[in-house]
Amino acid sequence: MSKTRVLTGITTSGTPHLGNYVGAIRPAVAASRNPDVESFYFLADYHALVKCDDPVRVQRSTLEIAASWLACGLDPEKVYFYRQSDIPEIPELTWLLTCVTAKGLLNRAHAYKAATDANRAEGQDPDAGINAGLYMYPVLMAADILVFNAHKVPVGRDQIQHIEMARDIGQRFNHIYGREYFTLPEAMIEDNVATLPGLDGRKMSKSYNNTIPLFEPAKKLRSAIMGIVTNSLAPGEAKNTDDSNIFSIYQAFASADETAAMREAFAEGIGWGDAKQKLFERIDAEIAPMRERYESLIDQPGAIEDILHAGAARARKLATPFVATLRYAAGLRDLRAKAEGGGDSAPAKSQAKPALQPVVFRDASGFAFKVVDAKKAVLAEQAGFADPQSAMAAARLALENLPA
Ligand code: TRP
Repeated sequence: MSKTRVLTGITTSGTPHLGNYVGAIRPAVAASRNPDVESFYFLADYHALVKCDDPVRVQRSTLEIAASWLACGLDPEKVYFYRQSDIPEIPELTWLLTCVTAKGLLNRAHAYKAATDANRAEGQDPDAGINAGLYMYPVLMAADILVFNAHKVPVGRDQIQHIEMARDIGQRFNHIYGREYFTLPEAMIEDNVATLPGLDGRKMSKSYNNTIPLFEPAKKLRSAIMGIVTNSLAPGEAKNTDDSNIFSIYQAFASADETAAMREAFAEGIGWGDAKQKLFERIDAEIAPMRERYESLIDQPGAIEDILHAGAARARKLATPFVATLRYAAGLRDLRAKAEGGGDSAPAKSQAKPALQPVVFRDASGFAFKVVDAKKAVLAEQAGFADPQSAMAAARLALENLPA
């Protein structure tokens, strides 16, 4: 496996907006054209059920997100593009992983902690109104990633903890069953993609209800842009680009030359109405051809189904044999198979030497590693690394130097 595998999921509980386009769809489509990467993009509809119990919305969102990615130029022949719920190996692997996941790890997940903290703050039972899906969310996400042995996972900063958990969980499984079944994934944070401000100036996000849908008709796009908050400087007064939402959004769509021209117009006191009109024209120039494709795709749900099924069939060619190996590793086996492996009751344990696995984790010092044996005795440990890569490199060295 020489190509880097890049994988990311999109939860199907909303309508794609301009912030999703600039922050996720556009860079992902561009990255998917790199011949050195194998890309996996999928519609995380099982994840959507955690926060959305409206079936019409889940179905509609799945259609809209699939149509959006295709309209923006994702080539389903060149990437793996599929719907999570079309891959039964994902929930199957979720259970195998659930059984090696420390419950305490899930207690510490940000989303779950935030929900219990909010309940406590209101004097309620900490788990009031929280479904077990929210609690299990990181394990399902780990299965999404590990089932295809992805190397890199492009996500927003809010998802970094989930990727670290996927590493932890994958590492636990590798350790318990004595082989490097799983590649340990890394979060990929795109620092040079823009985060768009929304209508009110805060980050454009569904949770702030300040979004501009990506594929609204041009007229609606224009009126949404006219509604973006600005300060009250009059036409003719010089305007600061640094604190302007209009300028930030413009910059996310414009070339360097166009941006420089807009900067000059700001200095010369362009009126907000004119600046917004220019912003609308610039965005619409990029979006209009895609909008046309989007509208035609939305009217052909059957064609999108076919594309998703074909994507799932290709993805399952990888997932089915791999999950069969994992089932075998865990002991879900043909009864005639020779007993072997790392479980406590396996008679052949003495022959199968479980590999020692270093564990890299974050602590107050930065990053640290530990090497533990099957009985959880610590064989080596060291803290104070600046990044997980150096901790891992030191861990590998320590492993090599352990007495046999
Ligand atoms: N949790 C991710 C989000 O909310 C969506 C997601 C689900 C995902 N499974 C994934 C992202 C696997 C990356 C990899 O953004």
